[in-house]
Amino acid sequence: MPQFEGKVALITGAARGQGRAHALALAEGGATIIALDCCSDVETIPYPLARTEDLNETKFLVEEAGSRCITIEVDTRDSTGMRAAVSRSIAEFGRLDICIANAGVVSFGKITDLTDAQWSTMIDINLTGVFNTLRAAAPPMIEQGFGRIITVASMGGRAGTPNLGHYSAAKWGVIGLTKTLALETAGSGITANTVCPGTVSTDMVHNQAMYSLFAPDIDNPTKEQVASRYAGLNPMRAPWSDTSDVTAAVLYLASDQARHVSGTTLEISAGVSARLP
Ligand SMILES: NC(=O)c1ccc[n+]([C@@H]2O[C@H](COP(=O)([O-])OP(=O)(O)OC[C@H]3O[C@@H](n4cnc5c(N)ncnc54)[C@H](O)[C@@H]3O)[C@@H](O)[C@H]2O)c1
Repeated sequence: MPQFEGKVALITGAARGQGRAHALALAEGGATIIALDCCSDVETIPYPLARTEDLNETKFLVEEAGSRCITIEVDTRDSTGMRAAVSRSIAEFGRLDICIANAGVVSFGKITDLTDAQWSTMIDINLTGVFNTLRAAAPPMIEQGFGRIITVASMGGRAGTPNLGHYSAAKWGVIGLTKTLALETAGSGITANTVCPGTVSTDMVHNQAMYSLFAPDIDNPTKEQVASRYAGLNPMRAPWSDTSDVTAAVLYLASDQARHVSGTTLEISAGVSARLP
């Protein structure tokens, strides 16, 4: 029997990138997918977010993999909307087994330069959005006595990160939130863990704003020109990981084999972890 047969998985930020990759892998494992995304741009974020067509493409690919999929356009900042999304999962499928709080954004600026709007958007999406997701998803899991909760932080949540103070603060917060949920649900059949990717090859890093941050000395830098700059961020000299590298960690934490793994952070960092205490 496929590993996730009979399981229902809710994934935020599922229209593209890592969220889509996790949705497809879980679908290939037999899970039913609830794919959530805001599908609209957000003020202060210097690159386009996903579109309705992207979310529809995720649904098409999940169904092509042989699983059921419902899509919901909702912003994780909307706590009522997040509760409604979970209620729909329970109404349609009777349960919710796996929750991946993946939706997130990035912008940048030194702490002395960040605007109020940049700060609030970052905390609202990358921290409060995760809180809204977990607060909505955990109760039915506690009731059914089973759940796998996986939050997506970042290596930026494991060390100070110049130009990303607000992002780093939000991602450290996600780790604290997840560890606390792990303790509060321990003994209920639930695990709660965090994955911390380094740089992953998605639209979040492949855009002109990010390229210019890493190559300020080049006019309109290209992907090829920034690859060596990104590679300089980690000991393996890998410019970026693939989404599949993160998906492998997510699948493990969602699996039965990880039933006694809770409250941990799993880092996909191309060696940066070796530098941390
Ligand atoms: N790409 C990287 O290098 C990297 C590294 C470490 C951590 N991360 C984290 O991984 C997660 C996924 O990012 P990605 O790399 O796939 O980027 P991405 O931009 O390709 O995907 C993010 C998705 O989240 C959606 N989204 C953003 N804000 C939302 C909101 N408020 N409500 C609902 N949906 C929202 C976007 O529309 C998009 O589809 C994020 O939390 C990000 O911070 C990314």
